[in-house]
Amino acid sequence: MKPVKVGICGLGTVGSGTVNVFRRNAKEIIGRAGCPIEIVQVGSRRRKDNCDLTGIDFSEDIFAVAKNPEIDIIVELIGGYDIAKELVLTAIENGKHVVTANKALIAVHGNEIFEAARAKGVVVAFEASVAGGIPVVKAIREGLAGNSIKWLAGIINGTGNFILTEMRDKGRAFDDVLKEAQELGYAEADPTFDVEGIDAAHKLTILASAAFGAPLQFDRAFTEGISNISTIDVDHAQELGYIIKHLGIARIHDNGMELRVHPTLVPADKLLAKVDGVMNAVLIDGDAVGQTMYYGAGAGSEATASAVLADIVDVARIINSGEAAAVPFLGFTQESIADINV
Ligand code: HSE
Repeated sequence: MKPVKVGICGLGTVGSGTVNVFRRNAKEIIGRAGCPIEIVQVGSRRRKDNCDLTGIDFSEDIFAVAKNPEIDIIVELIGGYDIAKELVLTAIENGKHVVTANKALIAVHGNEIFEAARAKGVVVAFEASVAGGIPVVKAIREGLAGNSIKWLAGIINGTGNFILTEMRDKGRAFDDVLKEAQELGYAEADPTFDVEGIDAAHKLTILASAAFGAPLQFDRAFTEGISNISTIDVDHAQELGYIIKHLGIARIHDNGMELRVHPTLVPADKLLAKVDGVMNAVLIDGDAVGQTMYYGAGAGSEATASAVLADIVDVARIINSGEAAAVPFLGFTQESIADINV
């Protein structure tokens, strides 16, 4: 079978993790895809020694990677809005399928990107954009496809949860823990996105649209972060039997959709209250199955690479099935996406 050829743009935390995990697990990954997969080119502003690029072409021009005629799948791991959008649209224009971990890009520009991809008959996959390594987009689109989903709630920012946990358990200062989260590769390039709830709002926007079958509407989400929480708040909450968690909550009502992220007092005996450190968890209510919860590492190099590689396998299968034009990106066909406003 013809190999599926992959180009990776971005060699930061997730890009290097993707190369490393692919090298380690290539046999399983290819076995699952049902066809050979090769990383043929990596694009990054500068070469780094965070992964082994032996046998992989390196380019300082990510747009050259996006246009490389040899490549079938472009993996966008540069982050941010503007250049990432241009890169993804260039890849699509050149007939490439796209895998991205970029929640900001999907939440803000996803409707436009999906439209461009549909017009070209290519796929855009974004499992790694939400909750790091937890396959929650796939759970909603596939595992829960038989359910009507009315609400979901979760801890969907690893940095924020790590900060709140360290403040509670070790009495550490906010800024000190944030610095560690940055060193560990958990935080966004601009950590304001983590601590002001913007990153969680991006992810909630994506989850809600996939769960309810509505267009992405990031600018309508209510967004409050954790930057005003102090160790005193965390301690007092605990004395009263609560844990402060930063939650994203999405609910469908008769008259529209509710999207909100903010610090929440969660009773200490609830499962969500026990999700600590960089871990994420998403609780989803389906009318048939009831509540299901998805738990795992919400950030980090190899955890996020796990989701990127799952998407590469998915897209490789789709390429070989020849059915790309029929794939509904948010889990609903375009005709069935309802005009539900926040
Ligand atoms: N900064 C993000 C987080 C990375 O901490 O959750 C994963 O999306």
